[in-house]
Amino acid sequence: MLQAQKISFDVQSGGKLTGRIRVPGDKSISHRSIMLGALAEGTTEVTGFLNGEDCMATLAAFRAMGVEIDGPEAGRVAIRGVGLHGLKAPAGPLDVGNSGTSMRLMAGLLSGQAFDTTLVGDASLTRRPMRRVTEPLAAMGAHIETSGNGTPPLHIRGGRTLQGIGFTMPVASAQVKSSLLLAGLYARGTTCVTEPAPTRDHTERMLTGFGYPVNREGSTVCIQGGGTLTATGIDVPADISSAAFFLVGACISPGSAITLEHVGMNPTRVGVVDILRLMGAEIHVENPREAGGEPVADLRVIGGAPLRGVRIPVELVPLAIDEFPALFIAAACAEGETVLTGAEELRVKESDRIQVMADGLDACGIEAEPTPDGIRIRGGRLRGATVDSHGDHRIAMSFAMAALRAEGPMHIRDCANVNTSFPGFVELAAAAGLGITQGDPA
Ligand code: S3P
Repeated sequence: MLQAQKISFDVQSGGKLTGRIRVPGDKSISHRSIMLGALAEGTTEVTGFLNGEDCMATLAAFRAMGVEIDGPEAGRVAIRGVGLHGLKAPAGPLDVGNSGTSMRLMAGLLSGQAFDTTLVGDASLTRRPMRRVTEPLAAMGAHIETSGNGTPPLHIRGGRTLQGIGFTMPVASAQVKSSLLLAGLYARGTTCVTEPAPTRDHTERMLTGFGYPVNREGSTVCIQGGGTLTATGIDVPADISSAAFFLVGACISPGSAITLEHVGMNPTRVGVVDILRLMGAEIHVENPREAGGEPVADLRVIGGAPLRGVRIPVELVPLAIDEFPALFIAAACAEGETVLTGAEELRVKESDRIQVMADGLDACGIEAEPTPDGIRIRGGRLRGATVDSHGDHRIAMSFAMAALRAEGPMHIRDCANVNTSFPGFVELAAAAGLGITQGDPA
């Protein structure tokens, strides 16, 4: 592991992205396919599953609770569901590594079990805030102990009787919403969650796909406890959050023309396309269709359209929350200033993405001024530089793409966690035209 943490990327400057590629499966949907598949009656067959470390941590956790799961093999997974009350006590703590989604969603689901569990994670996850789920879950009757400052590990007491509540989220978080809905499967009565702004709705869509009734009225989504999930087939689309690196890479490199196939285009996820178009990017949505309850399309990006700095509309922030590291690279290559506000959540992701991106852009000679809830970036000439990703997968991949426009090579440190969401990134990016190699320890 010590060795793995030392993986770095070396990326030559210049080049362009061309061809047709399919990036790996959607992380959010892959996690949920395992969780709901495990709780269903019957066998759920998944295709396009993301074989990354985060989703594999979820898969291993359910195996540790007695669920038989075949695969993944070429993206195929078969989950033999045990029903809502069929999970078994694991032999020890469940280690979900770097994955905030696993920990927050499973905190809700595990609050409804008959047995105790402990959830642990890596150093990054162990710094991330968990009270946002443990407090509303406690209001439902759950018993969860965190460390003194509300961070992992989580010790979850089983055998509790949960009661449905109505909860208005102070932050727009799909993880909090999903955690409460999963607890709501086990609660007496109705659990309702109101969101201050729309967040990704994969949990609601997938519950419906498993035949479980979900009611939405405006910004409130409600679920009744005590129903049954029925196994189904799930076709996981390519992850728009992984496609984002190629969208930005192509936009900033004249001569690029690349098609990203079968990308998930759920309206709660497409903020990156809207923001890039606002900046002047040329992105075509081709062949829109539906796959397993989720909209998908092929995205064709033509590089070279001049980008301009924009004030990012605050309502697009939750719809592009994971794509800001990549968008900051686009901003660095744009004419004028880009201003982001209302995005304090970025400070508590896998790293403090505002500070870490500002530091990296600064190393590249770009003026970037962090603010408490966002950043101001003045586009300019991008120098090649050595950048530290702080173990954050999305920061590593964003700076790798920056090399397409940089005046010298990029060296990016601490890149092992790219495998949490995008196994095969180096190979796929190289095949598309990025001059990237996995380098020696930094
Ligand atoms: C996710 C929700 C988002 C996102 C994360 C995955 C999910 O987090 O950043 O990568 O699968 O529900 P928040 O809902 O906390 O913003």
